[in-house]
Amino acid sequence: MALKITENVQYVGKIDWTLKHFHGEQLTTNSGTTYNSYIVKGEKIALIDTVSKNFADEFIKDLEQEIGINNIGYAVILHGEPDHSYTLKHLMKLKPDLPIYCTANAVKSLKGYFHNDNWKFNIVKTGDTLDLGNGSVLTFVEVPMLHWPDQMMAYFEKDEILFSSDPFGAHYCSEFMFSDKVELFDLHEEAIKYYANIVTPYSAIVKKKLAEVLAMNLKIKMIAPSHGVIWNNPEYIINKYVEWCNSYKENRITVIFDTMYESTKKIAEAIRDGIVAYDKNVDVRMFNSATTDISELIVEIFRSKAILVGSPTYNSGVLHSIAGLLDELRGMRMTGKKAAAFGSFGWANMNIKTISEGLKAAGFELFEPTGIAFNWNPTDDNLIECRQFGKDFAQATV
Ligand code: FEO
Repeated sequence: MALKITENVQYVGKIDWTLKHFHGEQLTTNSGTTYNSYIVKGEKIALIDTVSKNFADEFIKDLEQEIGINNIGYAVILHGEPDHSYTLKHLMKLKPDLPIYCTANAVKSLKGYFHNDNWKFNIVKTGDTLDLGNGSVLTFVEVPMLHWPDQMMAYFEKDEILFSSDPFGAHYCSEFMFSDKVELFDLHEEAIKYYANIVTPYSAIVKKKLAEVLAMNLKIKMIAPSHGVIWNNPEYIINKYVEWCNSYKENRITVIFDTMYESTKKIAEAIRDGIVAYDKNVDVRMFNSATTDISELIVEIFRSKAILVGSPTYNSGVLHSIAGLLDELRGMRMTGKKAAAFGSFGWANMNIKTISEGLKAAGFELFEPTGIAFNWNPTDDNLIECRQFGKDFAQATV
């Protein structure tokens, strides 16, 4: 898809409308994704990023038709992840002397993936520039661990565009390709899903880098990320990132459980009733982790001020959907959220310990270290205790 962004910048990326999973099968996508690639023109031409494997032939063909491969003077690779770098190997076959501008770590990732020691790398650091002539200059800013160690952004001062790589992206498709031309609610939902699932572990770095970039007082008319549409109202997503990287939470409590014979489900429902009875304003949501897409569950947790996690004891631990969730949360490193464990057990009261330890390891503040658990099937009196537990939990999280 070729689209004029400004007089000097052209979009040459690809839209993957039907994609349902990303990072292999790890993450779900509701709205497909885009692999954004850009042409920046001066007297010479730079290509920023390429596209993923499935679009390689199409991309090269279009590039030849639109620009002419021989007219490309430089490749700028913002990071080495193959969804953006894969087609570089096709390009390098056609133009083996093409200089590649990237960070030192990207040389490692690109060599690691493509095993080609003959490529002509030009390692850049923050503040380095690539002068294309005619007043077109790209200035590089390293942003390691957002979300790979090899990541950088490129700022094009002439048109006030920040090519941001993965940060500020979204798995979202539109033929319109500009944020002010699409339904903002839909875009917001995909941008927060992207942040929650991909960027959250690096929120402390986002905070630091955002402060650095904002202090530079760069004029930014557009943010052109590697996925999703181009933000031509960039203040919206910048402000969201400022919120999201600061222990983000809404007035929500999320109750998550897995269950075998509905005992843990009954406890979950009674706790939920107690929360609602105490606080009519809190948005309480309840999910069975075994039947809920984990990528969506991560978003719900990211938006919550507190969570309750429940499972029966199973093989001296917990059911696998809860075990998997706790492991995922440990990697997410969310901050500023409270949590508690609950569940039923038969002959071994191991679930609360397992869940509480998992929540603690994931950085949650435990409301009640011993959680709440009942043997076999909870009685009516047990459920009254669960409601009280819910009330106390709600009170502690106001
Ligand atoms: Fe979209 Fe880190 O690649």
